Amino acid sequence: MPATSLAQPASQSFDVRPLQGLVGAEIVGLDLSQPLNDADFARVHRAHLDHHLVVFRDQHITPQQQIDFSRRFGVLQIHVLKQFLLAGHPEILIVSNIVENGQPVGLGDAGKYWHSDLSYKELPSLGSMLYAQELPSEGGDTLFADMHRAWDTLPAHLRAAVEGKQSVHSYTARYSDTQAAVNWRPNLTAEQLAQVVTVTHPVVRTHPENGRKALFVSEGFTTHIVGLPEDESRDLLAQIHAHSVLPENVHRHQWQAHDMVFWDNRSLIHLAAGCPDHLRRKLHRTTIQGDAPF
Ligand code: SIN
Repeated sequence: MPATSLAQPASQSFDVRPLQGLVGAEIVGLDLSQPLNDADFARVHRAHLDHHLVVFRDQHITPQQQIDFSRRFGVLQIHVLKQFLLAGHPEILIVSNIVENGQPVGLGDAGKYWHSDLSYKELPSLGSMLYAQELPSEGGDTLFADMHRAWDTLPAHLRAAVEGKQSVHSYTARYSDTQAAVNWRPNLTAEQLAQVVTVTHPVVRTHPENGRKALFVSEGFTTHIVGLPEDESRDLLAQIHAHSVLPENVHRHQWQAHDMVFWDNRSLIHLAAGCPDHLRRKLHRTTIQGDAPF
């Protein structure tokens, strides 16, 4: 009998091992170069929701395989900085501090400020997959703050101050700061600016899949809280941020060769801790579109 088109790939034998601490699980033994059957995919999806971040260890996959796997979770978003998209694979943003022949090969200062990917869009990212290509021998960690825990533990007066409020997210607000530091980012064209107009989202959002509330503001993209005087808004955002990134809310990912990390942008904000300039670091990021926050 010929196989029907509904035939599923064989199951893979893999473990989901929660990491010590708040968030994160390692997925060991899964080969993402092979298509996943529905049951294996469901386990990965569940692990992502439960742990907010999963680390697929020891992956050897092509850009197209990363894209295909990412697409199982939703539509992929194309970054506005087209010069840092992988040739032939615009779904992949190159994150790298490497400069070749005077030209940066990727976005060198991605993640310099705490942020949730693409929160400046009407439909921010559900999650991002970052796949290690070249890692420095020192530094280069990525930090993640658990915004569910940050909300759950926020002092009552701060909860009362922000519950029900909206805030504005802007891609361009800190763009000129990053230009001033190192010139990774050329001026945006009118066409690029049209893709990153400011948006308004709730300060406290409800995760559409796990039902939990999370703070949804960040130092990277949130400019102000709607309806508050500028100084009051700045002060409130600073207090919320300081609380969100308290050590007890933060997980540090120390990269291993061939890691691919998949985090939930609805639950976590993240920060690239940086590495010495002379050490090479390069990763490939896919970014999956999520729902309008509510
Ligand atoms: C990012 O913000 O997507 C990049 C994080 C990193 O380079 O560690």
